[in-house]
Amino acid sequence: MSVLSILEFPDPRLRLHAAPVQVFDAQLKKLGADMLETMYAANGVGLAAIQVNVQQRVLVADMSEERNQPLVLVNAEVVERHGSQVYQEGCLSFPGIYANVTRALGVTVTALDLDGKALRLELEGPLAVCIQHEIDHLDGKMFVDYLSPLKRAMLLKRLDKQRRQAASA
Ligand code: NI
Repeated sequence: MSVLSILEFPDPRLRLHAAPVQVFDAQLKKLGADMLETMYAANGVGLAAIQVNVQQRVLVADMSEERNQPLVLVNAEVVERHGSQVYQEGCLSFPGIYANVTRALGVTVTALDLDGKALRLELEGPLAVCIQHEIDHLDGKMFVDYLSPLKRAMLLKRLDKQRRQAASA
């Protein structure tokens, strides 16, 4: 397994759209394992293949306290949604930046596992937020896209400032 490098905003490759996976081979399993290792190494709760410059519909997540419930979803789609919740989100492509985003409270997700077996998940709360966030990445969408222009500008300014401070530290 290897830790992959994560693209950071405003890398234009984060706006690419991922294609559905059609081949369930050893290479796909390696991608899933590498993405999990990359997510854990970065202390993240989710990661989409787009963020590691792979334009395939693969995402990984683990919202458990113990970091021992890895989820790898291939070709995941939200097929039903209900309610709404506001949750403070971060993103490995925006280190150190957090913002409240409104999303569905609960979602039904269909996906395939790494062997191509069909899954149907009923998710609520933080894990529902996480999976919606990661599926967005696969369509070139990021959490800051949900913010007002003013709020977004403030956050991106903070991101710039943090990067300058990190560079001069
Ligand atoms: Ni993200």
